[in-house]
Amino acid sequence: MNMIFKRRSVRNYLPDPIEKEKIEIILRAGMQAPSARNQRPWRFLVVQDRKELERLAEAAPNLRRLNEAPAAIFTFFDKENLLSPLFVQQDLSSATQNMLLQAAELGIGTCWHGLYPNTERTELVNKALGTPNNLEVFSVITLGYPKDPNALHFVDRFEPEKVYYEKF
Ligand SMILES: Cc1cc2nc3c(=O)[nH]c(=O)nc-3n(C[C@H](O)[C@H](O)[C@H](O)COP(=O)(O)O)c2cc1C
Repeated sequence: MNMIFKRRSVRNYLPDPIEKEKIEIILRAGMQAPSARNQRPWRFLVVQDRKELERLAEAAPNLRRLNEAPAAIFTFFDKENLLSPLFVQQDLSSATQNMLLQAAELGIGTCWHGLYPNTERTELVNKALGTPNNLEVFSVITLGYPKDPNALHFVDRFEPEKVYYEKF
């Protein structure tokens, strides 16, 4: 999957809205992620309304990028009935990463903003969103067509000294 190498965090976007069909493809990619015991604990909140994005951007320092983004996808996990609670962060990370890669494949720039388990961040964001009690916010992905047409480009990050074969 070539887009693994070209995905970059994109923080400056054109104002063009993201088509609903593309949002759904991105959500489908998120839900295709592996999860511990296949528990699929994720929930998603898609926000594209300009006024709501601006309101949220003011509600928490970590949401300020929503000011410029034409869309944001908040990821949550359902705290109830988890089959494998210890691994919930890994489940949500794999879903988040799948969405970043699918968006890149569609030419859409994204940035992962980490929220959970930083309670200073999650408390503010859950309050601003009115998150239901059974859910916990995990991350927010800002999305938009990149302002810089070259934003999605390869950066070589291979560091052979970090790899061990067979033994340390
Ligand atoms: C768990 C996590 C949290 C992150 N939180 C933020 C954030 O709050 N704000 C931000 O601008 N970028 C955030 N990033 C993006 C990283 O800064 C970015 O991935 C890193 O600098 C590497 O750049 P690249 O994504 O272009 O390869 C986060 C990435 C991860 C995986």
